[in-house]
Amino acid sequence: MQFDENHFSLLRDLLRWRRDVRHFQTTPIEPHVKSKLLQAVQTSPSVGNSRPWRFVEVNSPHVRAKVLQNHHNANDKAAKEYSDEDAYAHYTRLKLAGVAEAPLHLAVFNDPDPKAGKGLGRRTMPETLKWSTVIAIHQLWLCARCLNLGLGWVSILEPKGMNELLEVPEYWDFIGYLCLGYPERQSKTPELHEQGWQENLPETWLSR
Ligand SMILES: Cc1cc2nc3c(=O)[nH]c(=O)nc-3n(C[C@H](O)[C@H](O)[C@H](O)COP(=O)(O)O)c2cc1C
Repeated sequence: MQFDENHFSLLRDLLRWRRDVRHFQTTPIEPHVKSKLLQAVQTSPSVGNSRPWRFVEVNSPHVRAKVLQNHHNANDKAAKEYSDEDAYAHYTRLKLAGVAEAPLHLAVFNDPDPKAGKGLGRRTMPETLKWSTVIAIHQLWLCARCLNLGLGWVSILEPKGMNELLEVPEYWDFIGYLCLGYPERQSKTPELHEQGWQENLPETWLSR
């Protein structure tokens, strides 16, 4: 396969228009679209081809309600960390998760001791397993955007208790909670930038 300028230009559009999404339509995601998302994860790179990611689709309304409550608790605590009154007020105005509306929920865990890969590449840096799982999430993120879906990564959660709630092995590491669905709107600018919390800064690379 030889890629050309056209592919690069499309990829650049994808990168520019990928957003962290917290405002979702409630329209369900069709099963064939979900299969494409799964395929995207399956082609992700991983240390020693260990494929340590564990994606759990969360459908139970009871479990979703518990996750939402967990997010509210963690978010209230995080808000209180801002002692400055203006920063506190600004923080509490931000919408930082679409857990209540998103039609598809994926909890993502990392298996710290997967059989696959037979340990290759991770003896000195076992954290490469978690990095592999994070890359898989990013690959899913880009693929979702290509399918005109939005993805919102929720980390404002207390990880303790997530394994029990989702009935997965206690030794798996909780990595993040992903909300997916058709977005209410599109933007080339991160929402935190639009809301005046944190603008996108120009990039520079160190040179030695
Ligand atoms: C590891 C990770 C965790 C994140 N957790 C949250 C979160 O809990 N809530 C939220 O609103 N955004 C979260 N985000 C999204 C970031 O706020 C977002 O990526 C950043 O503001 C840039 O916006 P963009 O993704 O639209 O370019 C997370 C992103 C990453 C990579």
